[in-house]
Amino acid sequence: EGNVIYIPVVFHVVLTNPAVITDAQIQAQLNVLNKDFAGMNSDSVNIPAAFKPLFGKSQIQFKLAQRTPGNEPSKGIVRVTAARSVYSTFDTSLKYSTLGGDDAWDPNRFLNVWITNLSGGYVLGYSTLPGSSVPAEEGIAIHYATLPADSLTPINRGRTLTHEAGHFFYLYHIWGDENGCTGTDFVDDTPNQATLTSGCPGGVMVTDGCSPAAPGILYQDYMDYTDDACMCLFTWGQVARMETALNNYHAGYYT
Ligand code: ARG
Ligand code: ZN
Ligand code: CA
Repeated sequence: EGNVIYIPVVFHVVLTNPAVITDAQIQAQLNVLNKDFAGMNSDSVNIPAAFKPLFGKSQIQFKLAQRTPGNEPSKGIVRVTAARSVYSTFDTSLKYSTLGGDDAWDPNRFLNVWITNLSGGYVLGYSTLPGSSVPAEEGIAIHYATLPADSLTPINRGRTLTHEAGHFFYLYHIWGDENGCTGTDFVDDTPNQATLTSGCPGGVMVTDGCSPAAPGILYQDYMDYTDDACMCLFTWGQVARMETALNNYHAGYYT
């Protein structure tokens, strides 16, 4: 279809040695993100047959910004020598140049992604939700070692950015962020799920108290907490919710 929307992204690499993250690695990360959103990821063959009809393909795609906010040519990658070696999730100095981080580019025109050292990998990433943030802090932060082929095995295939981009476009965790069946992700086609899944159940069907019958829970979803190699889809309901959020909150990316 001809309605693909390309979102300009700027990556802010804020590390004590920002050169360790190469342009090629950022391009590899962007390729993972685009394949995952388009449903072109080759590991989607792992989606169980019963869940194949749910496999969503989004029109949202991402490209490196080619101009700065001041209209100068750019690669869409900024490297800054960080004032701190590690940033906690509430340390907003990451997002301010005067505090040794790097300023957001106009969040109405660009998706800002900060690549940094987040608590040594204990925190993989975090994102603002639509409408939740001061504009200067809007965007996504990911731990540098989650990038494809970096060191944080088994969370080093670039799926942290896919998951955080889900949050950025208003997705919640698939289990509803509580350990029962009343919590919701506000998406209709995801199975109700009691709690998070970690590691990887390895292709077998998993049922729980909220989805006790086949096909069970959708632990292969990007909005669960499984390992990168275990997650391989957004559902159509999630795709619709993200595209609505894009139109409602970020139409300025493309108009
Ligand atoms: N814990 C993070 C969050 O809640 C990201 C989890 C990403 N999982 C992964 N396998 N990459 O936003
Ligand atoms: Zn999350
Ligand atoms: Ca739940």
